[in-house]
Amino acid sequence: MTPQAFRQLMRLHPAAVNIIATGHAPHRTGMTVSAFMSLGVEPPTVVCAINRSAFTYAHMADNQVFSVNTLSVAHIELAKRFAGQAQVFGDERFEAPQWANFDSGSPCLRSAVMSLECRLIRQIQESTHCLMIGEVISGRYDDMAQPLLYRDGQWVTTSDDLLMVPIER
Ligand SMILES: Cc1cc2nc3c(=O)[nH]c(=O)nc-3n(C[C@H](O)[C@H](O)[C@H](O)COP(=O)(O)O)c2cc1C
Repeated sequence: MTPQAFRQLMRLHPAAVNIIATGHAPHRTGMTVSAFMSLGVEPPTVVCAINRSAFTYAHMADNQVFSVNTLSVAHIELAKRFAGQAQVFGDERFEAPQWANFDSGSPCLRSAVMSLECRLIRQIQESTHCLMIGEVISGRYDDMAQPLLYRDGQWVTTSDDLLMVPIER
């Protein structure tokens, strides 16, 4: 399959939007990431795919801790800012007072749908990207926040309409 055909297919894959962040002020770095998922429950682990050319990548490896902050529909500008689209870099991406810190120091977005504090336990290099595997130390959430998704180049969200499919037991 050509890279173009692959890209076209993957555009249709709906993805939640997160900010992966690491470091203490004034040395915080962070980036917008959709390639994130939970990996296992015992112990609680997550994985994200980070482009090795991203500024945040080396900082995650150096700090050995990072956070995952799942964005809400109120965070579209933040998603663009942390994707480098506002020409703001490094610690300047973090505007007070929306950011606090986890105990390990990683930035925590106060209004996120959910935030996880993670300890980096493994890195797996694969072509341009690296799978960063984290063990989850703690987390917080706002169950009223509406999640932000990205699909086919558009910002979209979930609908809370239940699909009326009978549950088979
Ligand atoms: C919706 C969206 C999802 C993204 N997902 C990822 C991702 O999963 N992994 C990745 O390495 N970059 C991803 N990016 C690109 C990075 O956010 C972008 O390259 C960022 O500028 C890198 O940070 P830097 O400018 O500090 O190097 C995504 C961008 C957007 C807009």
